[in-house]
Amino acid sequence: MGPGDQSDTPRHADLLEDTFAVRARLDADLSRAGTRRALGYAEPVVDDAIRGQLHDGITFSLPHPLEVEVAERIVSLCPGVEMVRFGKSGSDAVSAAVRAARAITRRDRVVATGYHGWHDWFIGSTTRAAGVPRAICDLTTAVPFGDPHAVEAALALGDVAAIVVEPSGAEIPPPGYLQWLIDTAHLHGTLAVFDEVITGFRLAPGGARQRYGVQPDLSCYGKALGNGMPISAVGGTANTMKVFEEIFYSGTHGGETLSLAAARAVLDTIADGRVLAAIHDLGCRLQQGLQNLVARYGVEAIVRISGEPERTIVSFPGADELIHKSLVQQFLIERGVLFNGSMFISQRHTVLDIGHTLDAFADAFAALSSDADPRALLTGPPVEAVFRRP
Ligand SMILES: Cc1ncc(COP(=O)(O)O)c(C=O)c1O
Repeated sequence: MGPGDQSDTPRHADLLEDTFAVRARLDADLSRAGTRRALGYAEPVVDDAIRGQLHDGITFSLPHPLEVEVAERIVSLCPGVEMVRFGKSGSDAVSAAVRAARAITRRDRVVATGYHGWHDWFIGSTTRAAGVPRAICDLTTAVPFGDPHAVEAALALGDVAAIVVEPSGAEIPPPGYLQWLIDTAHLHGTLAVFDEVITGFRLAPGGARQRYGVQPDLSCYGKALGNGMPISAVGGTANTMKVFEEIFYSGTHGGETLSLAAARAVLDTIADGRVLAAIHDLGCRLQQGLQNLVARYGVEAIVRISGEPERTIVSFPGADELIHKSLVQQFLIERGVLFNGSMFISQRHTVLDIGHTLDAFADAFAALSSDADPRALLTGPPVEAVFRRP
């Protein structure tokens, strides 16, 4: 074996997916890593596209034709999107949308629901606002998802450039809610921005726009678009997007082609909807299985199953939230399932993965429902919240 020969080295991707036989490997990664890929780790179609593009070159002085090809595919998949601009991260895309909305409306304030990345305008509205100037923090108002009164009250404060929402997250939108949000925003002269960084190219080829039949002013995409490669996009009608000629949204690696090649392969793979339909079916199986387990072990008061089948969320309401979450996490990791609250299905997960995962949850819920003090069962310190709303 030569120095560069790694044929005996297990691939990290294999350690995290599809592996059952080898102890100490993680059999099913349904955790946050899944947020960034719907097709799976080391997906051959995507890897081949990256390798092919590597031969052609990575970053150029002038835009590469791939930018147009990927943009055309996004436009054809996402209803109402006529034009897109690319970035490298979800935070890029959502911040670009906020800047566009501010430029269009000539207003400063933002109303936000959900998580939207690390940039000042959003993280300043959470408990992790250290380093963000007070003046920036004060411009963003957080409102809970699905609360029309909170939305109305925040918009009534005036000067709101954009309402930025994850169209579906821990809660599935009630019927008509997303259209109500768009219409209400418009009544106040505010732009509706959907953060589809998780839902895009996952809930349907055209994301939440397609699944819920709505067309916000701007939509932001990331994660699944590159299946692990750093690429994001913001899109809307040509009329809305023309403001990008005015604002500054540009970076050294904005037109980097390996990510664009990956995105083209992803979009071609999901375009006919079959891959995402299979992910949906598997997600339904997981979600239903979890609901059944919650009922079987009588843990309804302390375990909640919610969200879309593509991203089932297991949360732990109550004062002992983090203790219960830690215990479930501990049981799952011991059984080879990486879990961090959100459970993302990829194309590579199988019915066996779901069965194995449900077995692990059964053991965890049995422990939760037992008389034992959950703190005493923990083998280490409990997890802590990354941040909270103030
Ligand atoms: C809904 C949503 N928006 C925005 C972001 C930020 O994306 P990134 O981490 O790529 O900057 C995330 C990341 O988790 C997200 O889940």
